[in-house]
Amino acid sequence: MQSTVIAPSILSANFAKLGEEVDNVLRAGADWVHFDVMDNHYVPNLTIGPLVCEALRKHGVTAPIDVHLMVEPVDRIIPDFAKAGASMITFHPEASRHVHRTIQLIKSLGCQAGVVLNPATPVEVLDYVLEDLDMVLLMSVNPGFGGQGFIPSALQKLRAVRERIDASGKAIRLEIDGGVKPENIAEIAAAGADTFVAGSAIFGQADYADVVKRMKDAVAA
Ligand code: DX5
Ligand code: ZN
Repeated sequence: MQSTVIAPSILSANFAKLGEEVDNVLRAGADWVHFDVMDNHYVPNLTIGPLVCEALRKHGVTAPIDVHLMVEPVDRIIPDFAKAGASMITFHPEASRHVHRTIQLIKSLGCQAGVVLNPATPVEVLDYVLEDLDMVLLMSVNPGFGGQGFIPSALQKLRAVRERIDASGKAIRLEIDGGVKPENIAEIAAAGADTFVAGSAIFGQADYADVVKRMKDAVAA
């Protein structure tokens, strides 16, 4: 099992002062920055692109930037994000014609690669590619918006993917995204997640350090 990572989703941050928000959340004990890229095509929302990622790096952010691409087709934006300072890049297999090729593209650019499974995407999509991955990201909401409720069937899926990762013997992270809060994170960790995205639960609170600490304590308990 990997170390616990808390990755706040900046989708719920105040974009008018993004640099400050990211500094504050990292100072509060967060480990990564989760960067949600939506194209108003693969998902019904439009967010931020490589320029914003690059701006965070220029601002001085050194923490890993975890780029979650909800973009179709996905391949042509990947080199721009690698250049902009992404540390890991995850994509939805539905948005790639050649999943194995997309994984190799991400890795060839020096980034860690991950595949994202929507709530209704079967775990079999990981067959034949799992061992090439640095991370599997399970969506516990339908992608497109922050602030939605955790879909309970994600727990069963976490257990199924955890089994596959353990059987592979590889150091592959299992990340969960959507509706994660201090109140449900222990149960999510028990089902096998080690990397936790949280947007509204963190940026919706006044004291980021308090929420991050409550999340980490709940996972460790
Ligand atoms: C949804 C995004 C999530 C989202 C999570 O498509 O991938 O990262 O921001 O937000 P919360 O934690 O509020 O569910
Ligand atoms: Zn996300």
